[in-house]
Amino acid sequence: MSYLYKEKIGRWYWYEKEEVTSTNDEIRQLPELEAGVVLSAVRQTAGRGRRGHLWHAPAGNLYFTYSWHILPEDLSRMVCLIGLSLAETVLELSSQAEIKIKWPNDVFLNHKKISGILLENIAKDLWIIGIGVNIVSAPQLSGGAYQATSLQENDILISREAFLRRYLLKFEEIIAEYAKEGFTPLKKRWLNLALNYQQPIMIKGEKEIKKGVFLTLDDKGYLVLKTKEGEERIVAGDLFI
Ligand code: BTN
Repeated sequence: MSYLYKEKIGRWYWYEKEEVTSTNDEIRQLPELEAGVVLSAVRQTAGRGRRGHLWHAPAGNLYFTYSWHILPEDLSRMVCLIGLSLAETVLELSSQAEIKIKWPNDVFLNHKKISGILLENIAKDLWIIGIGVNIVSAPQLSGGAYQATSLQENDILISREAFLRRYLLKFEEIIAEYAKEGFTPLKKRWLNLALNYQQPIMIKGEKEIKKGVFLTLDDKGYLVLKTKEGEERIVAGDLFI
């Protein structure tokens, strides 16, 4: 199946395919991949989530991956900015809904998960950022820590293509702000949307679960947790409330 080059959206070269295993796998097949390429698919047959989970990917929802340069010292800040771009894209579509970012970058709409982000490093400083957004349907998740929802279920009606355009332009805008004004103003915007900010949380890491109060993000983009032992900076993990 050949790639369909669609068009330029702002600075982005946008390709689309009908069906792929995963857009994160498919984008790697593009010759001489550089930053600024977007690959979307109508459906994925083996969509991947974080920590080896499957990402349910029937037609109707949005599945895309884009390439971007990220320096190692910027990684945690960029993880937050990608989540902020997604959360603000949803926020601008609805003034009524409650939008929250669950650290590091899951977006929740009215207490249910609406999207997921999977970052992978493919070459020195070149990353691919895979995003799934539940536009018209959401999987029934049983027994997990949260439920999923779709934009449509919350009366937000938008096509997958229109959402993609809005997201890419929002990300571009946020990256330009970051280059001009640094992380602090964007961090404030992120914290304003953060789930359980300054409240008790649990962080599940590779080896252990840490409990404490979610104090803030530091200037590197790490989560600052106030535990019984003192303040800890956390780079990776899953947040539970
Ligand atoms: C998560 O576990 O929350 C991350 C889910 C990421 C899903 C998206 S859909 C587009 C891209 N392709 C994939 O296989 N995964 C990401």
